[in-house]
Amino acid sequence: MTQLAIRTHRLGRQFGSIRAVDDLDLEVPAGSVFGFLGPNGSGKTTTIRLLLGLIEPTSGEAEVLGFDPSRAGDRVRERSGALLEHAGLYERLSADDNLEFVGRAWRMPAAARRARAQELLGPLGLWERRREIVGTWSRGMKQKLAVARALFQRPELVFLDEPTAGLDPIAAAALREDLAGLAAREGTTVFLTTHNLAEAQKLCALVGVIRSGRLLAVAPPEQLRATVRATRMVVTGRGLDDRIARLVAGQPAVSAVELGDGRLTIALRDGQDTSPLVGLLVAEGVAVEEVRKGSADLEEAFLALMGEDEAGPGGPLGTGRPVRAAPAAGGEPA
Ligand SMILES: Nc1ncnc2c1ncn2[C@@H]1O[C@H](COP(=O)(O)OP(=O)(O)O)[C@@H](O)[C@H]1O
Ligand SMILES: [Mg+2]
Repeated sequence: MTQLAIRTHRLGRQFGSIRAVDDLDLEVPAGSVFGFLGPNGSGKTTTIRLLLGLIEPTSGEAEVLGFDPSRAGDRVRERSGALLEHAGLYERLSADDNLEFVGRAWRMPAAARRARAQELLGPLGLWERRREIVGTWSRGMKQKLAVARALFQRPELVFLDEPTAGLDPIAAAALREDLAGLAAREGTTVFLTTHNLAEAQKLCALVGVIRSGRLLAVAPPEQLRATVRATRMVVTGRGLDDRIARLVAGQPAVSAVELGDGRLTIALRDGQDTSPLVGLLVAEGVAVEEVRKGSADLEEAFLALMGEDEAGPGGPLGTGRPVRAAPAAGGEPA
């Protein structure tokens, strides 16, 4: 049995009419990097604040490191490190003094504080620069220091809320590289939020995809990709028209269809085979030229999940007009 660092049961948080976190059931195994992936405003930060006991849930419950954060938030916080949206460094102090401050707050002996600072700042390339005033540093360097600070007291669990947000691509890539190294070395549980797919793919053993406060999927990154690779096909050929699109959309195996640029893009439900649909197209007189199974990367998987039950601009697959299934024969028009 894997040990769980975090478990939530129907956790919810409402702000006025906004359901920031909606019925969240989450299990985060101990000792690995869990990625919470979702667009802006999907409820990632609110979830972290709930898990740290910084705000109260309006429904459901959570267990973090064995404690209920809404009753024993201090227990959770004394065992956790966090890099939240605002790094909260002391800009007028040196990097060294920033870490000294944390080390003293955690009552670490002087020798241990120094050893830990070197251990963390060394691989981040900041050890030689530790006496510089943080306010003069680049955002990338500050974020690295903020990560070092979150890990300083060897917490059992570390929350990193969009650690690379606001960094230029090179600084972001460098920090990702460092985070991968740190996570491997430290062996602590990391709960990392991101809206960046490459980041989730690089760093996370398990990814939970969240949108509008709801958890859409939890899987290792490669499995998320595989799910979508199997469930998307693009057909080109002559005779692809609205009638055909509606016919395909009405098939039980099909979750969404789009027609555009002489192509029919078909999203299949989980585990469905593409060949019966090709047969159907041929039987309906379509001169099929090419059938391509979507070579989904994580980005496609993500977009497909995002569009699963709510067509965004351009429809659920983002390639053309969404087509609705025709009403069943004899049914009432909608
Ligand atoms: N303190 C708050 N008061 C009102 N609404 C909030 C508050 N915090 C977050 N929200 C709303 O909850 C939703 C989720 O926000 P957030 O958790 O910050 O998303 P994310 O971190 O994924 O970008 C958003 O619609 C946001 O506007
Ligand atoms: Mg956020």
